[in-house]
Amino acid sequence: MLKVEEVSVRFGGVQAVAGMSLEAPPGRVTGLIGPNGAGKTTLFNVITGLQKPNTGRVLLGDRDLTKASTAKRARAGVGRTFQRLEVFGSLTVYDNVLLAAELAHVKNPSAAAHQLLERVGLGGFAAQQAGVLPTGMARLLELARALAGNPSVLLLDEPGSGLTEAECKALGDLLLSLTADGTAVLLVEHDMELVMRVCQHVYVLDFGQLLAEGSPAEVSANPAVQIAYLGAEEVSA
Ligand SMILES: Nc1ncnc2c1ncn2[C@@H]1O[C@H](COP(=O)(O)OP(=O)(O)OP(=O)(O)O)[C@@H](O)[C@H]1O
Ligand SMILES: [Mg+2]
Repeated sequence: MLKVEEVSVRFGGVQAVAGMSLEAPPGRVTGLIGPNGAGKTTLFNVITGLQKPNTGRVLLGDRDLTKASTAKRARAGVGRTFQRLEVFGSLTVYDNVLLAAELAHVKNPSAAAHQLLERVGLGGFAAQQAGVLPTGMARLLELARALAGNPSVLLLDEPGSGLTEAECKALGDLLLSLTADGTAVLLVEHDMELVMRVCQHVYVLDFGQLLAEGSPAEVSANPAVQIAYLGAEEVSA
């Protein structure tokens, strides 16, 4: 179980995250939604060790990871994908995943890489250069790379962005299959259809603070959430 306790991050005059707490239990997709600039990516950076919080703690099970390095957190089972894609463009699709599998000391990295590419639907693109992939496929490649580390907690920062409808549907299926295997998924996503389909619990962040939490149906029916997140047009529609 991943636990974030009372995390705050300040950038100069900007309070990006203000006393935010959340839990991402195994076998569940937990949603983290909120308007642009709400602090979602900053919170992911705190969880993965890329951003030091001013206050608060990050716990995985009974381990306090607040001061652990990014590498140590990865070894402890924390995996992620990035909102701004971070694939190795000059390598092939296969080599991107192979490298991740080798870094994670997977037993048979080559077989694992092929399996992961199949699992995310990129089996037919192994020999392609990663840099020329359309955004949606590059996101799936990032996901395959994150899965190579066999994470117990997987943080996904807008994985649905740039995906076609069919890819998005397949992504949803994949996320549900991961939770069936016991993975804890924490999903930042603007595509509410995907959030509604896969999340059991959703936290809504606004100006770095918790605005609401509950089932996808509960939070999307919450008037404060509609105003902050969905926008006035959708409230009146
Ligand atoms: N490295 C940084 N230095 C200064 N300000 C930052 C930095 N990173 C983020 N911010 C600011 O912190 C706030 C939260 O940003 P963050 O990227 O976490 O939001 P977000 O919820 O991920 O938004 P989006 O939906 O657009 O991705 C914003 O006001 C942003 O401008
Ligand atoms: Mg973001």
